[in-house]
Amino acid sequence: MYYLYHILSWPQLLQVAEDYDGKIVGYVLAKMEEEASEPHGHITSVAVARTHRKLGLATKLMSATHKAMEEVFGAKYVSLHVRVTNKVAVHLYTQTLGYQIFDIEGKYYADGEDAYEMRKYYGPTPPAQVKKAAALTAAATGVPAAAVPAGSSSGGGSKAAAASGSS
Ligand SMILES: CC(C)(COP(=O)(O)OP(=O)(O)OC[C@H]1O[C@@H](n2cnc3c(N)ncnc32)[C@H](O)[C@@H]1OP(=O)(O)O)[C@@H](O)C(=O)NCCC(=O)NCCS
Repeated sequence: MYYLYHILSWPQLLQVAEDYDGKIVGYVLAKMEEEASEPHGHITSVAVARTHRKLGLATKLMSATHKAMEEVFGAKYVSLHVRVTNKVAVHLYTQTLGYQIFDIEGKYYADGEDAYEMRKYYGPTPPAQVKKAAALTAAATGVPAAAVPAGSSSGGGSKAAAASGSS
């Protein structure tokens, strides 16, 4: 029911990947937080079938959702939560898609695991938050803050950000 609510409310934010037989092999489900002080998107769930991982599907699906959040709903940033032990997802978000860690939420999950609260701003990160986000992200990923992209594009790509010298 919760997922159906997402699909009916923000159909532009649902992205699916199908194989040649039309079977769904990946999806992103997301919503808008429109009543917040700054309108922003939130990624509710993303997954790719084991048989189709490491092909760039999650990157493509997430980028399409990011674009719709900004262009259709005027999102200022997009947020998500991820388990602190989910190294693959943390890599995808911070190194491929340009998210930064803004906070650590203790015991966020029912089994007691902590979550990283991540955000990717479409414009510059608010100055008051830059230092903390850079420090948390660097501590979690081992990548120096200067190499972490600021998230200034709607597409994905720390590589693009690094190549253009932005941070
Ligand atoms: C996390 C997940 C969605 C990634 O999907 P994917 O389609 O394989 O991701 P992509 O192919 O777009 O890869 C994105 C980046 O992660 C890297 N990556 C993906 N899987 C990896 C793995 N098992 N080991 C190391 N790196 C991996 C890719 O190399 C790529 O990095 P790069 O841009 O530096 O080259 C997928 O592993 C999954 O469904 N996991 C289970 C559900 C989950 O954890 N969801 C997130 C919870 S919030």
